[in-house]
Amino acid sequence: MEHIIEKFLENHKLSRAEYLALLEGWENQESARRLAQEAVKIRDHYYGRKIFTRGLIEFTNYCKNNCYYCGIRNGNRNVSRYRLTEEEILECCHIGHGMGHRTFVLQGGEDPWFTDEKVAVIIRRIKAEFPDCAVTLSIGEKSYESYRLFREAGADRYLLRHETADEELYRSLHPAGLSLEKRKQCLYDLKKLGYQVGAGFMVGAPGQTLDHLAQDLVFLQELQPQMAGIGPFIPHHDTKYGSEKAGSIELTLFLLSVMRIMLPAVLLPATTALGTLDPMGREKGFMAGANVVMPNLSPLENRRLYELYDNKIGTRGEDGESMEGLARRAECAGCRLVSERGDAVEL
Ligand code: 5AD
Repeated sequence: MEHIIEKFLENHKLSRAEYLALLEGWENQESARRLAQEAVKIRDHYYGRKIFTRGLIEFTNYCKNNCYYCGIRNGNRNVSRYRLTEEEILECCHIGHGMGHRTFVLQGGEDPWFTDEKVAVIIRRIKAEFPDCAVTLSIGEKSYESYRLFREAGADRYLLRHETADEELYRSLHPAGLSLEKRKQCLYDLKKLGYQVGAGFMVGAPGQTLDHLAQDLVFLQELQPQMAGIGPFIPHHDTKYGSEKAGSIELTLFLLSVMRIMLPAVLLPATTALGTLDPMGREKGFMAGANVVMPNLSPLENRRLYELYDNKIGTRGEDGESMEGLARRAECAGCRLVSERGDAVEL
């Protein structure tokens, strides 16, 4: 164990079998501490103690997909569906800009009502009104041509978690019609088009083993994304995994540290899922090497309808979720919340 950690700290890269050996030590507190210490040192070297904010606008909860773990999957008849209007989206940006956000994330289910042209119009309007801001899209799998159109409209970044890099696990978490191959193709298309790309996975997804996680690390090592979303799986009552247990906080934190060491300049959010499972989750995330937080900017009445998993925080406008609250959380972890675009440092 000692020796695998030392090798990792030296080379920032391991084989699948070695990652597995590294991950098998996740419950060892000494190992976790060692990795977190190094992760923080690396983050500080590239980004200082800055925590970047991303204003998240969940603009549609319609989704044509039916991912088995997700609360807003198409088959869930108990969700009231909504779409924000263009004006409402721009209003979110206006409010968010005033709060200090310099990145807006347009996230939604895969909703065909928002045609490519409609999305492009929204991107152009945001970029015209807020030229000092980055626009990040998180709207799922599209064709190369669609991604190109969005890029030309001004989109800077794209988030598309790969979810799992294991074919079989991918098939067990998603219905037929969705494939890992397609997912990976999208990620490579996005890279080719010059987006800053974010991939990522859930920790503790039903059926997931440490070897699956080792495969996720190998995939991310190959993809070299600028961002990585890693959060614990949390069951949603209206899914077939409603009574599964949630992923481990400690394992998630361990993986955040590993990620930071593997991809030193990666932008790494302390995710909402981490904050949902543990009231101090985000602080712990920062102390493990994370440097991004993504508070919700959607109108309050829509937030509870974007329930990917049970008890998602931010849906009631809680105090700890305001910019002041998040600034306190950052400070608590020895960091500071900044009002900057927070682009990825190129190595
Ligand atoms: N628990 C945790 N994360 C989830 N996501 C979807 N459903 C859940 C869940 N039940 C994550 C997926 C998706 C992102 C938007 O939210 O990884 O990519």
